[in-house]
Amino acid sequence: MFKIVKRQEMSEGTVILNEIEAPLIAKKAKPGQFVIMKANETGERIPLTMADADPEKGTITVIYMVVGKTTALFKTLKEGDAYQDVIGPLGKATHLEKQGTVVCVGGGTGIAVLHPITRGLKEIGNRVITILGARNKDLLILEDHMRAVSDELYVTTDDGSYGRHGLVTDALRDIMEKEDVKQVVAIGPVPMMKFVSLLTKEFNVPTMVSLNPIMVDGTGMCGGCRVSVGGTTQFACVDGPEFDGHQVDYDELMKRLAAYCEEEKECYNEFCTLEQA
Ligand code: FES
Repeated sequence: MFKIVKRQEMSEGTVILNEIEAPLIAKKAKPGQFVIMKANETGERIPLTMADADPEKGTITVIYMVVGKTTALFKTLKEGDAYQDVIGPLGKATHLEKQGTVVCVGGGTGIAVLHPITRGLKEIGNRVITILGARNKDLLILEDHMRAVSDELYVTTDDGSYGRHGLVTDALRDIMEKEDVKQVVAIGPVPMMKFVSLLTKEFNVPTMVSLNPIMVDGTGMCGGCRVSVGGTTQFACVDGPEFDGHQVDYDELMKRLAAYCEEEKECYNEFCTLEQA
């Protein structure tokens, strides 16, 4: 069992942080890697990229948004409760390189995934410019954490309730036009990663994205996580989760992510009804 030692609700309870006792995973975890978690014996397994790992304390931190039955079930777990299974670290670690000026772009809970990568890029001597995007001020997470590991930080919100009114690509275009950017890292909703990649392609700047397709085993056996990258089939769980953003077939990924939408909605509604009863 994997005990929750800290639980924090963010964004009006729609985004939850869990720090979990997992000493063996914490010892090996590197930026960019993920775990697969299950709340109980009959629960669904879901992949979550680690936002942090503390080998001294023997804990890992994950941040998830409540979007369906499984994340709603996770939300019912309090401090002191435990997950039945946490498997990891899985996937390839981020390749961190000193390049000069790099831009890290994060959206939604992708900001949690971006945090250890941004910190790693800064630690090895890059000048890090960070852009965080959210639909509104309440949905923005980890601004202070990200500011602490960035040389400059910009925020955009879709509704203008905080920072610049607009999309992360608006802020990114301004930076690309005046800075000698060597690399962009973009992690967030698939449409965000798609449009960041289209923009950076115009400027011919290498771009890394982290994909979170549907996963089952997380070890390269089921094929559930397959994505098309540069015309080849890749398994996000073992070949990724990070890929060259200019090569990813985002439209196919969005279609595959929506494949079980109706069933997911039904399960979630059923779970909410049972919880309220
Ligand atoms: S999750 Fe099964 S192959 Fe990747």
